[in-house]
Amino acid sequence: MVKKVEIFCPATVANVGPGFDILGFALDAPGDIICLERTTEKKHIIQNDSEIDLPLNPEKNVATVALDAFLSSLNSNEKFHLTFKQKIPAGSGIGSSAASSAGAVFAANLLLEKPYTEADLVPFAMKGEEVASGSAHADNVAPAILGGFVLVRSYEPLDILGIPSPDGLYCSVVHPEISIATADSRKILKTSVPLKTAITQCGNVAGLVTGLITGNFRLIRDSMHDVIAEPIRSFLIPEYDRVKKAAMNTGALGCSISGSGPSLFALSENKDTAEQIGKAMESVYSEARIGSKVYVSMVNMKGMKVLLEE
Ligand code: HSE
Repeated sequence: MVKKVEIFCPATVANVGPGFDILGFALDAPGDIICLERTTEKKHIIQNDSEIDLPLNPEKNVATVALDAFLSSLNSNEKFHLTFKQKIPAGSGIGSSAASSAGAVFAANLLLEKPYTEADLVPFAMKGEEVASGSAHADNVAPAILGGFVLVRSYEPLDILGIPSPDGLYCSVVHPEISIATADSRKILKTSVPLKTAITQCGNVAGLVTGLITGNFRLIRDSMHDVIAEPIRSFLIPEYDRVKKAAMNTGALGCSISGSGPSLFALSENKDTAEQIGKAMESVYSEARIGSKVYVSMVNMKGMKVLLEE
């Protein structure tokens, strides 16, 4: 019987331009590293060995909220000792809460000898997202668990589809050193959109998905436009227009807000271009004297990685 697992839970880019709440993909880096062990304690124990602050109260931590949803579906009273060894900063826009929620349920499923398939775990991880942001969206947790690009075709009932992504597709992410709470950046969105806006957005989502499936980079570029969230949320992000322009001028296929921000991501056709885009985005922030971190990654097709099982 496995007593202890340590897993890498990847960061994710949600929305991917026009796919608000319905498209996302996993990155190779950064990510959380979480270790889970069974405990005989009466409640879950959260140990933070990372450099990032996180709630140690199991009722407030998204990982243990997701874990409890998973355990109660199994009528299990099992308790776990969770150690966060590495943590994506909260409010970064690259799926920090998703990595913790998804990672915890993925690890617990391994310890309990896989009562669920990976796809079955998504709704439990969504409970963590609900606590973090007030909305149980799946566009971060699903790619974190399943890897690759995913489309949430429907929420009721939940229907999640893996979408192939073209060889060579790279992503550059820049995270300016500010944090934005997803709950706040959801509150500022309009709750209804004009028909014309909806038509434009639907066309772009369909074009983007078709471009990904057929490996058509021109179509991906033509479709990477968000007319619903980006025009409103971009005001929350310092130097947004300049960073986006720098990415586009360096050969990006498209550039938009990663999740609810403040990170921006850009897609490109190869690693060299992705690295140059990363530098171009970072230099806008350094000129503006804003610290930032850049990550260049392929689409991570695997999702979670088991680092240790004993
Ligand atoms: N789809 C979500 C949003 C992702 O944009 O609010 C953030 O976690």
